[in-house]
Amino acid sequence: MALNSYEENDFRLASPAFEEADSDIEISLRPKTLDEYIGQQKVKENLDVYMKAALQRNEPLDHVLLYGPPGLGKTTLAGIIANTMGTQIRVTSGPAIEKPGDLAALLTNLNAGDILFVDEIHRLSRSVEEVLYPAMEDHAIDIIIGKGPSARSIRLDLQPFTLVGATTRSGSLSAPLRDRFGVLLRLELYSPQELAQIVMRSARILGIEIDEDGALEIASRSRGTPRIANRLLKRSRDFSQIVGSGSITVEDAQQALSKMEIDELGLDNIDRMILNTMLRNFHGGPVGLETIAASIGEESVTIEDVYEPYLMQIGFLARTPRGRIVTDAARIHLGYPVGGGDQQTFL
Ligand code: ADE
Repeated sequence: MALNSYEENDFRLASPAFEEADSDIEISLRPKTLDEYIGQQKVKENLDVYMKAALQRNEPLDHVLLYGPPGLGKTTLAGIIANTMGTQIRVTSGPAIEKPGDLAALLTNLNAGDILFVDEIHRLSRSVEEVLYPAMEDHAIDIIIGKGPSARSIRLDLQPFTLVGATTRSGSLSAPLRDRFGVLLRLELYSPQELAQIVMRSARILGIEIDEDGALEIASRSRGTPRIANRLLKRSRDFSQIVGSGSITVEDAQQALSKMEIDELGLDNIDRMILNTMLRNFHGGPVGLETIAASIGEESVTIEDVYEPYLMQIGFLARTPRGRIVTDAARIHLGYPVGGGDQQTFL
């Protein structure tokens, strides 16, 4: 295996199907070991065993599928895997790999034990996916040479590698692809306490002064998502610096969050628009996802992947066979009357 640990600069872009780099600040906040990684206890415990076992056997880790809502640390975990296994990571994404040849180029450039991280892996095209099957199973790709009756297929051996796929929707993965992953890990939304620890850690790295209550305030309004918590931390620092005390207190955080129109539960304008539209136009449901999407001018996949997980987690939205419904808890939060009969359709 190539012994080269994962450092910031090793977060190399895979070529030709490369991706825009994440910002330097975002990368600097990423933990590099499982010990530094806060939350996702079950995922961490299992992954730790799988990595230790593979290292002991001197084998590459089996292919890993990470799934769950966006912003929970899938890319970060891929980096931790590379760092722990002592290998290089190549980062790309489903939509960036347009043609089978793009994937063939990526695969043939991997060294033994390398990690190939494919974000949004559910967006790979069928023809690209088909190159991946023998690569994952037999460490080989089949290349067609020539055209028409004289075309022949030759098999090219690859170095053993680990594919780490990430997706917000494991249901959209084709069964043959899903079945080829040996390790399936589901990431869950974080608790406010875990997010507060992440905020404190990020503040330390970025040199931002914040007290524990300020961190918990930001954490409780971050919809269970570290990426949002880190963003709100940076914006709260701006407010604290210009109009607050300079060190983020609960009051500074509250002021910043209310200026950003993020309420006590972390709902933003779009969350509220989804719920208000369902209540005002569709009596709170049941209403189909496509109808909600058309009513608010947002893509249905965005509603499903980005907004719904948190709204369901806090019990504001439920999925039923006949469509989505708004719960009484959401009605109370938004100031709508609750109760039976006509009252429910008030407004
Ligand atoms: N930054 C983003 N996600 C993190 C996590 N899970 N643990 C620590 N820092 C993080």
